[in-house]
Formats: sequence, structure tokens, C-alpha cells
Amino acid sequence: MEKEILNAKKIIDDSTNVTVLTGAGISAESGIPTFRGENGLWRNFRSEDLATPEAFSKDPQLVWEWYEWRRKIVRDAKPNPGHYALAELENQIPTFTLITQNIDGLHQLAGSRNIIEMHGNLWQVRCTKCGKIEHNHEVPFKELPPMCNKCNSIGRPNIVWFGEIIPMTIIDSALIAIEKCDVMLIVGTSGVVEPAASLGLIAKQTGKPVIEINLERTPNSGLYDLSIFGKSGEILPLLYSKKTHLN
Ligand code: APR
Ligand code: ZN
Repeated sequence: MEKEILNAKKIIDDSTNVTVLTGAGISAESGIPTFRGENGLWRNFRSEDLATPEAFSKDPQLVWEWYEWRRKIVRDAKPNPGHYALAELENQIPTFTLITQNIDGLHQLAGSRNIIEMHGNLWQVRCTKCGKIEHNHEVPFKELPPMCNKCNSIGRPNIVWFGEIIPMTIIDSALIAIEKCDVMLIVGTSGVVEPAASLGLIAKQTGKPVIEINLERTPNSGLYDLSIFGKSGEILPLLYSKKTHLN
């Protein structure tokens, strides 16, 4: 592993433009269960059972109770060294883009700035009628389901659900960041949910080196230039040199 980390560090040190894709794995060390790992289930429901427009129209209360449960966990969670390492890398590299599938907001809390949230944000409620988006940090909610304070229609989580498309503006910004980068890092994602799962392959197709950091192998591991298997909170802090006031 040491040799791989040195390789990865060299590639990053030689880069002036870095793009990173993260998934639930980077927040695992903050105590947030991943989707397909241990403790990923809620009341025996998989995320695929609840994070759909069908599930919401059938039982909005149930779906909101699930998000309420996740909001409690995330509210009590803190960023871990993996999040902080990416925020620090952003300070050190001229151009840095962080594409995340995570909706927990921990990257922002760690100080990351140039973030593309592909799947939405847990702290936003979107009106199902007028589309108004409201930032809401109530835990628990005063009322469940939360209602729109403009037209009093039911609110839904401002999150991209299975079967829903990601706004083209977001896809475009992610593709531009991949096209322009010198290297792409893929951190803590199982690589099974599209379109995020293909971003690494797109980077490969445009000739960019791709470095994967994940606890275990993923379907694309063999296609990437470098795969470092372990905890992102332990590996990411090793990928940049701690800037002191001397240099
Ligand atoms: N460090 C690095 N990787 C880790 C760690 C860790 N500490 N802990 C777990 N992992 C890895 C797991 O091995 C797994 O491959 O993180 C990955 C998490 O995979 P998923 O649970 O499938 O999460 P993710 O890839 O982000 O899911 C994608 O699916 O449910 C939807 O919209 C949801 O954004 C989510 C999308
Ligand atoms: Zn409304």
C-alpha cells in the first residue's frame, strides 16, 4: 500500500487541476451508515425501496420518517479526517472540484468549497407543487410531512431519487470538471449507481489517470490506474504534504 500511496501522492503533487468523486464510504468513519454496507437498512427497507417517487406518493409519511432518521444521524455526525483532507487539498491545488453523491453536507462542514452535489441535499425541502426549495435544519421537523410556506403544498426532500434524472446543469459541470482535470480521485463509492458510476470511466476515456480509494474492490477497480483499498479517513491525509509556513 505504501508504494501505491507514494504513486498517488506523486500524481497529485504534479497536478494543478484535480477532480474528486465521493460516495457514502467517505462518511462511514463519521458514523453515517453507507447504503449497501452494514447497518445500511432502516426498518429492513433498502434505500431503493424508499428513495423513489412511487414510494413517496404511496406513503409520504413513511418516506419522511426515513429522512428524519437520517437527519438525526447526520446532525450528530462530524466530518472525519477524510473530509478534512479533501478540504485541505482544495487549498493547495489551483483548481479543485469535488463531485459528491452524498447528501449529508459534511464536505461543506469540513471546509470544502467547490462542490457539485449530484444527488441533492438532506437539509433542503422542495415543494411538490411550486418547486420552492427551502433550507430546513429542524430535527425533528415541527410538522411531518413539512409543508411549503409559499403555497402550503406538501414538501419532499430535495434529493434525486431512483428513477429520477439529475439536472443537466449538474451533469454538465461534472463532465467539464472531468474533462479539465489532470487526475481524478474516486473515494468511498461502490460504483453501482449511475450516472456517477460511469464518471471514472469517462475520465479514463479522456486519458486522465484515475485513482480509486475504497474499503473494498468495486466493479471498475480493474479499469482504474490505481486502487488503494482501505479507509479513506486514513489514506486521504497521506496524499498531500502538510504545508508549513516554511514552504
Ligand atoms: N473508507 C473508504 N471506503 C469505504 C469506507 C471507508 N471508511 N467504508 C465503506 N466504504 C466503501 C464500501 O466498501 C462501498 O464500496 O464505500 C462504498 C459505499 O457504497 P454504497 O453504500 O453503495 O454508497 P454509494 O456508492 O455512495 O451509493 C451511491 O446510491 O443509494 C444511492 O443515492 C444513493 O448516493 C447514493 C448512491
Ligand atoms: Zn409551494
